[in-house]
Amino acid sequence: MRGGVFRDETILYPEYIPKETPHRDKHLKLLELYFQDVLENPLKVSQNVMLYGPVGSGKTMLARKLGDMMEKKAMLYGCFVKFLHVNCRIDRTLHSVLVRALNYLGQNYPSRGYGFEELLHVLVSELALKKIHMVVVFDEVDSLVYSEPSSLYTITRMREVTRNYQVFSSLLISKTLDYIRTLDLSTISSLQWNTVYLEPYSSEQLFDILLSRSTEAFNEGCIDEECIRLVADMASVYGDARYAIDILYRAGKLAEASGSGRVFPEHVRQARASLPPQLRKEELNYLTKHQKFLLMAISNLLKNNSSPYVTIGEVEKTYSALCESFGVTPNHHTQVWNDVTELSRKGIIETQLSGKGIRGRTTLIGLSIVPAKELIEELERGIVADARG
Ligand SMILES: Nc1ncnc2c1ncn2[C@@H]1O[C@H](COP(=O)(O)OP(=O)(O)OP(=O)(O)O)[C@@H](O)[C@H]1O
Ligand SMILES: [Mg+2]
Repeated sequence: MRGGVFRDETILYPEYIPKETPHRDKHLKLLELYFQDVLENPLKVSQNVMLYGPVGSGKTMLARKLGDMMEKKAMLYGCFVKFLHVNCRIDRTLHSVLVRALNYLGQNYPSRGYGFEELLHVLVSELALKKIHMVVVFDEVDSLVYSEPSSLYTITRMREVTRNYQVFSSLLISKTLDYIRTLDLSTISSLQWNTVYLEPYSSEQLFDILLSRSTEAFNEGCIDEECIRLVADMASVYGDARYAIDILYRAGKLAEASGSGRVFPEHVRQARASLPPQLRKEELNYLTKHQKFLLMAISNLLKNNSSPYVTIGEVEKTYSALCESFGVTPNHHTQVWNDVTELSRKGIIETQLSGKGIRGRTTLIGLSIVPAKELIEELERGIVADARG
């Protein structure tokens, strides 16, 4: 019997930290450079960096690599630097981040019962006592900022808590910098931070990433470059390495399940089809202001509608009213039509021609995948951020 196609499938697990990171070496170098002073002088210097880029562009991975590397190097320098990775979708308040930081240091504080100031004081004294400089990675930081708008201001001011020594740095991770637009000016002005941007991966770049991961993951001769290129092309629409690796992994699983000793293009196509069609909410961030208004109008009309479709005429009316309520001049019909086409091309809405019944023929618009209610919630944030910006 032939062996499976995988040499080690864990290499394709989402949490695996790869040794090689094609097309991200220069970004990692830049991050290292920004934190170099902290390494050399951990009790004197503090650093704040923002790392941002679209879904699956390698942000969490880079933060983890940076953390491993810095903690190791710090030992060589004879000092302690500790990285704490916090996911702000889970820890949505600075208070709970502090509790996590204290737990990390072996101080077991319950999540309730202590005030913020008190916890901050304990944390800072604990770090100073142990001569530890803590770098907190606030992953998905926008969740924290939305639920606690003053948090970012507090983070930027942490270095002022202690005068003669520094024990705290931060790395903020997000998909866009939109959350900054929701802040007040005094926070923005204190945000003279270093930023590192990760652009979405091109098909060629995804190919290199997949190739490097698959050399370790698959047995020799079990997958050829053509298949890898096909996966890269499929995922390049999003520039998302996670999606690409997921397709590759599933294709390998399907090949094994079918008893084939190799991955064929058909496995790749099946793998993609097996992934649930879903709108990547992040995509909404990349829509123009008018596209957001338009989608909001469509969602509002469809939310309680008995029919799954609305006519383009109704959409235009609601869209214009919505624009005006935000003090924005609505676009003309041709531009609205272009935006409808664009939303449909992105797979967010569906369009079709009505039967002859309704005042001749007209275009009907429906939502492809996401329920109207979800879209409305997601869009509200974006529109409010745009309006303030
Ligand atoms: N250059 C690369 N080389 C190898 N693997 C990569 C590379 N970039 C990303 N990956 C892999 O792609 C997957 C997604 O990366 P990661 O989780 O860092 O994305 P992210 O930018 O944090 O996305 P999200 O915004 O959705 O959290 C991970 O499995 C990661 O190891
Ligand atoms: Mg991430």
